[in-house]
Amino acid sequence: VDRAQAEALDRTDPLAGFRDEFFIDPTGPIYMDGNSLGRLSGRVADAVEGAMESWRIEVVGGWREWVDLPLSVGDLIGRLIGAGPGQVLVGDSTTVNLYKLSRAALDVQKGRSVIVCDDNEFPTDRYVLAGIAAGAGSNSREPIEVRWVRSDPVNGVDLDSLASCVDERTALVCLSHVNYRSAARLDIQAVTSLVHERGALMLWDLCHSAGAVPVDLDGAGADMAVGCTYKYLNAGPGAPAFLYVREELHTRLSSPIWGWFAQRDQFEMGERFEPVDGVGRFGAGSPDMLGLVAVSAGASMLLEAGMDKLWGKSRAMGEMLLELVAERLEPFGVDLGSPADADRRGAHVSVRHPRAWPMCNELVARRLVVPDFRVPDTVRLGPAPIYTRYVDVFDAVERIRDVLAGGPTSSERERPRVT
Ligand SMILES: Cc1ncc(COP(=O)(O)O)c(C=O)c1O
Repeated sequence: VDRAQAEALDRTDPLAGFRDEFFIDPTGPIYMDGNSLGRLSGRVADAVEGAMESWRIEVVGGWREWVDLPLSVGDLIGRLIGAGPGQVLVGDSTTVNLYKLSRAALDVQKGRSVIVCDDNEFPTDRYVLAGIAAGAGSNSREPIEVRWVRSDPVNGVDLDSLASCVDERTALVCLSHVNYRSAARLDIQAVTSLVHERGALMLWDLCHSAGAVPVDLDGAGADMAVGCTYKYLNAGPGAPAFLYVREELHTRLSSPIWGWFAQRDQFEMGERFEPVDGVGRFGAGSPDMLGLVAVSAGASMLLEAGMDKLWGKSRAMGEMLLELVAERLEPFGVDLGSPADADRRGAHVSVRHPRAWPMCNELVARRLVVPDFRVPDTVRLGPAPIYTRYVDVFDAVERIRDVLAGGPTSSERERPRVT
């Protein structure tokens, strides 16, 4: 790959026009952290300003148009993840939604007390499940145990190892579709079928998939899913998360949080909790409206771009990164930290180096590239296809090589709290 080839790809990129909608400083560093926090677009900024205008003028009257957003925006996200209408709700954080759905699943799996999860899973998932096993928030039933599947840090969970962990005692399997560190990607269909054959329920974490990688939840017969909107959906820091529950499970599962936003005839202020029939029963308290309008604008933009085009470009940028890493970075001791096979990889590419942190620090401090660092030795490169050009991918690798070629630097500062 050379720069001219990258430029040629940009000239024929059907998504190129979307970049102009984002606030991008042309003299700034190359942003390769779309897998952590997406950039701000004019559409999202306008949507939030519009909601603030309603708030300014109508004050509490704004609720008439806001109150259904958790479900209507959920339907928009549903179209990105293969979920038909009425099965996705937007609100709370991924962590809280994961807790709600895990508990709900355990409560209907009588006689089964094991949760299966990946030992390389994102920390919040591991903590929530371990917390449930430790009895946090529960006065219930038999003790819960978490069984950890040992996975490969680069290639992720292998189906045979998973199969050996899921048995007649398994109530729930909770896994990321795309691993946060390595981008190792699982086959949703194959895993869901395996889990169902053994009578367990399947909960997918789609944080690194929603808006990035094609997902067909309904097609795979998935039971439940959660995910965030601040990465590829570009809805802003801490924007509300989503949850999916397959329609047939709506009346079987109930949320462990009995909040008034899940209540039938909410403003009757009834004495007893009677949840609505649909996925709205997983609501809890007042939804974050400024966040919801941002999610709506972010998801609409991706729908307009089309998941097939987004994924096509993501894959092409991933393959380009792999080639560039092999050619230009491996001679400096960099190893690939993601699966080499594009069919087993999500939308980012990770590289590993013993001095990954100082390298990352230098790239940011000198305003060259913004990647992110994950302990102990991983640098993630997440070129979001909606606003990243092929030349950005090319130039980012060149800049990383220059930093590596410069040898040890003075930037071995202590790591800050947020990386
Ligand atoms: C796979 C995965 N799950 C969960 C989370 C965290 O979710 P939240 O902070 O929205 O609760 C993240 C955050 O990056 C993630 O990557």
